[in-house]
Amino acid sequence: MTYYVTTPIYYVNARPHLGHAYTTIVNDVLTRFNRLMGRDCRFLTGTDEHGDKIVRAAEKEGRTPQSYADEISGLFRATWPNLSISNDDFIRTTEERHKIVVARFMELVDQRGDLYFGEYGGHYCFGCERFYTEKELIDGLCPDHKAKPEYIAEKNYFFRMSNYQDWLIDHIKKNPDFIRPERYRNEVLGFLRDPLEDLCVTRPKTRLTWGIDVPFDDKFVVYVWFDALINYISALGWPDGELYRRYWPAAQHTIAKDILKPHAIFWPCMLQSAGLPLYRHLNVHGYWQIGLSKMSKSVGNVVEALTMADKYGSEAFRFFLARDMTFGLDSEFSEDRLVERFNSDLANDFGNLWQRSLAMLQKFGGGRVEPEGLAGAGQPDQAQWLQRERELVAGWIEAFEHVNPRAALALAWEQVGLLNRTIDSEAPWLLARDPAKKPRLAAVLARLVKGLALIGVLIQPAMPKTAEEMWRRLELDPQELTLDLDELARRLGHGRALTAGAPFFPRLEVDGLKPAKAPKASKARAEGEPEDQAGGAAPAADKAPPDGLVAIEDFRRLELRAVRILAAERLPKSDKLIKLRVSLGDSERTIVAGVGKAYAPEALVGRLAVIVANLAPAKLMGVESQGMVLAASDEGGLSLVTLDDPEAKPGLRIS
Ligand code: ME8
Ligand code: MG
Repeated sequence: MTYYVTTPIYYVNARPHLGHAYTTIVNDVLTRFNRLMGRDCRFLTGTDEHGDKIVRAAEKEGRTPQSYADEISGLFRATWPNLSISNDDFIRTTEERHKIVVARFMELVDQRGDLYFGEYGGHYCFGCERFYTEKELIDGLCPDHKAKPEYIAEKNYFFRMSNYQDWLIDHIKKNPDFIRPERYRNEVLGFLRDPLEDLCVTRPKTRLTWGIDVPFDDKFVVYVWFDALINYISALGWPDGELYRRYWPAAQHTIAKDILKPHAIFWPCMLQSAGLPLYRHLNVHGYWQIGLSKMSKSVGNVVEALTMADKYGSEAFRFFLARDMTFGLDSEFSEDRLVERFNSDLANDFGNLWQRSLAMLQKFGGGRVEPEGLAGAGQPDQAQWLQRERELVAGWIEAFEHVNPRAALALAWEQVGLLNRTIDSEAPWLLARDPAKKPRLAAVLARLVKGLALIGVLIQPAMPKTAEEMWRRLELDPQELTLDLDELARRLGHGRALTAGAPFFPRLEVDGLKPAKAPKASKARAEGEPEDQAGGAAPAADKAPPDGLVAIEDFRRLELRAVRILAAERLPKSDKLIKLRVSLGDSERTIVAGVGKAYAPEALVGRLAVIVANLAPAKLMGVESQGMVLAASDEGGLSLVTLDDPEAKPGLRIS
């Protein structure tokens, strides 16, 4: 089976930012998943270098378009290795291999009778490099760039896109996963309810020379979108290239919703006209936003691609982007959220699991995984345990096949949570005291180590370096990852002693981070004035609050969450402590609460309580409490804080 995935080719008028990083990282994650599945993969990215927009950006810097494009394209190319991007090719539209293909493609469309010469006047947005109809403008402005388009009237060549409207509607209807997720398929079918206009596919050289020559009329260059889309096949050496034959039938394009129309409408019509088969899937994601507006160069609110990776490491950055955004929906980016996930998911849940598991293996098993433990012979729950592992792997594969990295990673973290709870409930330190429990101890230790080896595979697409290091420390070959659970057990029977090594994601001290944070873009900065002449006063957010009061940022660091109490039992030898199993909707935790004098355990089950979810874990009478339940109390008694609406969902954040 083959797999071919592409990112958009990015315009060279702006430095790579977090939005570009996201699409490229997600494609990298998907490609690594497909490689793990043993498929023959190809992953393409590159830069889009022609058109007015680039000419204008170069002029502003007093540069030629070519030298400007060389520089920015070089920046993209240099950025990707720092984010562990494993692309197989990098295409530039100014390369000869691309120009030849564009000319050839255009000739085919012309021979098909799909080009005509005509006059057109319309509202042109230079940011989008396209004409808008009156109807599409919002208050006379481009809906994306919020800028006033210019009215341009000129003679050009047009592509008879309207000829393909019915055919395209039919294709989209017959292939439900051609455009996914479904909301974008519906959006495209929505556009197609109105008649399609023909597409203006050239620009007169009197206005623009920075483009590819139209093969049959040297007074024109090819419109930048017509040129750019063709990169997906020029990089494969269409029409005769071996790569084209091998990979084009499996093509998938991944984009954000800003360029849905060119990919979902122009490109299929172009391919059909030239007599080429269509791509298989268009994967469309939403925007990373800052303060509810799209992160973009034109808005001026960008986070540069490498800033966060430099600060927190590329592994944590990749993890955050893939785990936090629901593919298809918009997501709000904030550094605080990144830090929060770093500390809770990576440092706390994952990092601690690794250290605890290997420390116990060391202490109670001499660092070795016993073959009898791996076999789990005589363990009544062994079959069930193996079944759960199989289901986990199946669910993870399913999530990735449906372009849902968030769900795939959430499943990997379910495994992390389950192993942490296994340690709590099995209490290996107690098993170790009883010689009769030796087989159980060996089985529990083996489950932990095998579970970690499996986590190493499940996170590999998103965090390749961490996975590699985990496998190395488990004395397994990181070049030979496997999802075959029997094979994994067999390999772990190597009998060599294992040690934990250095912690994977040491907790970030939140206080230490604050001063390093970049100052908010102020008006003075935007206008190019030096900051220190802008009035002197520090931004309000950086001021310490008056004595005795808490700054809002400090309050926000507390993660208060609603939880459903699933089970409650008294801790032996304590009249005050109750061990609770609570659900946060997508995960569960154990919390020890000092409410035993006021409540019977049965009375707590089913309630919606409130917890501090990001409290450092603490051991209470041998049980690790992962958070704290809130209650009001004085000498007179104690009352649990609960949610008013009994239907409210567990997991809700309280703010
Ligand atoms: O449109 N959130 O290039 P471009 C998520 N050259 N993704 C974002 C984003 C954000 N805030 N901002 C940008 C072009 N992106 C054309 C493409 S393809 C034949 C030609 C990502 O530099 C996302 O992938 O404007 C989006 O589609 C792309 O960058 C736009 O990049
Ligand atoms: Mg753009």
